[in-house]
Amino acid sequence: MADRPFDGVRIDGEGFLLRAWRQDDLDALLRHADDPQVPRGLSERFPHPYTRADGEAFLAGRVVDFRHPVFAIEMEGEACGGIAVRPQAGERAHGAELGYWLGRRHWGRGHMTRVVAAYIDWVVPVLALRRIEANVLDVNPASARVLEKNGFTEEGVRRSALQKPDGFHDLRLFGRLFVV
Ligand SMILES: CC(C)(COP(=O)(O)OP(=O)(O)OC[C@H]1O[C@@H](n2cnc3c(N)ncnc32)[C@H](O)[C@@H]1OP(=O)(O)O)[C@@H](O)C(=O)NCCC(=O)NCCS
Repeated sequence: MADRPFDGVRIDGEGFLLRAWRQDDLDALLRHADDPQVPRGLSERFPHPYTRADGEAFLAGRVVDFRHPVFAIEMEGEACGGIAVRPQAGERAHGAELGYWLGRRHWGRGHMTRVVAAYIDWVVPVLALRRIEANVLDVNPASARVLEKNGFTEEGVRRSALQKPDGFHDLRLFGRLFVV
């Protein structure tokens, strides 16, 4: 489909599969996404509580643009997280912003480090990327570590860039360059 060009992609990794989101992922998505710990380090586009309407809106492509490579992380036969890049435009078209999340049940076992590595190996040549960047909330050292383990460098801090219910938070900017 032209509006979902990556629907047929399957990236097989050690203990996971990356593939397009499907309508029948809704129940699994709700099980893993409706957890206060998951959005703590994410932008407000990932709500809490995560309602059935939120899941339906996401799977219908009303939250993120499914023309981009937005994949479910499938483990043990169900979607339990997501990973995506948002490609940039114009003079930044060689770059993209990376985002990801994983259900809490699977944290702390190196999964996201391996998922990011597999996804980057696939997406960099497919989109001819020269740069990938990621913004990490100051309260999210685990995500910073995932990026460091994948060769990203911390490039700077956007001080008080976000206001959350508990106050202002810094955003740490990570980047990695690729040879084209
Ligand atoms: C961040 C997240 C993706 C990590 O996934 P994961 O599968 O647990 O990550 P990994 O196990 O591959 O690696 C985590 C690393 O962080 C480290 N870590 C975990 N908690 C930490 C903490 N509080 N302080 C410092 N390091 C920490 C781990 O020890 C590990 O590093 P190591 O291998 O050097 O020991 C997962 O917790 C998540 O989805 N969180 C919610 C969504 C989110 O924050 N997404 C990222 C937005 S930028």
